[in-house]
Amino acid sequence: MKFETHMKKISVLFVCLGNICRSPAAEAIFIKLIERKGLTDSFIVDSAGTGSWHIGKKADSRMRIAAERRNINILSRARQINSKDFDEFNYILAMDDSNFRNIQDLKKSEASTDFASIKKIQDFRSVFNVKEVPDPYFGGDEGFDYVLDILEDSVNGFLESIA
Ligand code: 4NP
Repeated sequence: MKFETHMKKISVLFVCLGNICRSPAAEAIFIKLIERKGLTDSFIVDSAGTGSWHIGKKADSRMRIAAERRNINILSRARQINSKDFDEFNYILAMDDSNFRNIQDLKKSEASTDFASIKKIQDFRSVFNVKEVPDPYFGGDEGFDYVLDILEDSVNGFLESIA
């Protein structure tokens, strides 16, 4: 698909559990990538969590600091995925199998259409041969860098798959 200016924007929602570590990082990596490629105007990009604990909060400072070292700015505030997201986003990308199942369950119980394509971000990996983006929340600082490494790989792969 070529990105023409007259085309409708492509909307992408990255989803994890808390929306303070993995999905805000994926969102910021994707925003930086499309900026670099001059594609900013072709996309709507957002992130959300399946859980509600951190609604309104900035991303975890450990993730923001690890991202800043790569010149990636994480600016998002946490929100919870809701039934409207299934009608509004072309792509909903889950960080792990548990997020994926929770999104499918929510879709079954609440979504009114089959509009969004729901996938796991790791389906688009090429370098990092891991099936899920591991939850870094309860681990050490190195876990945040590892998440950024595997997300840079799979987020690139996702853009290539639709571009
Ligand atoms: P995330 O990480 O899903 O990558 O945002 C987590 C953040 C918080 C919690 C779990 C995972 N928590 O249990 O509060």
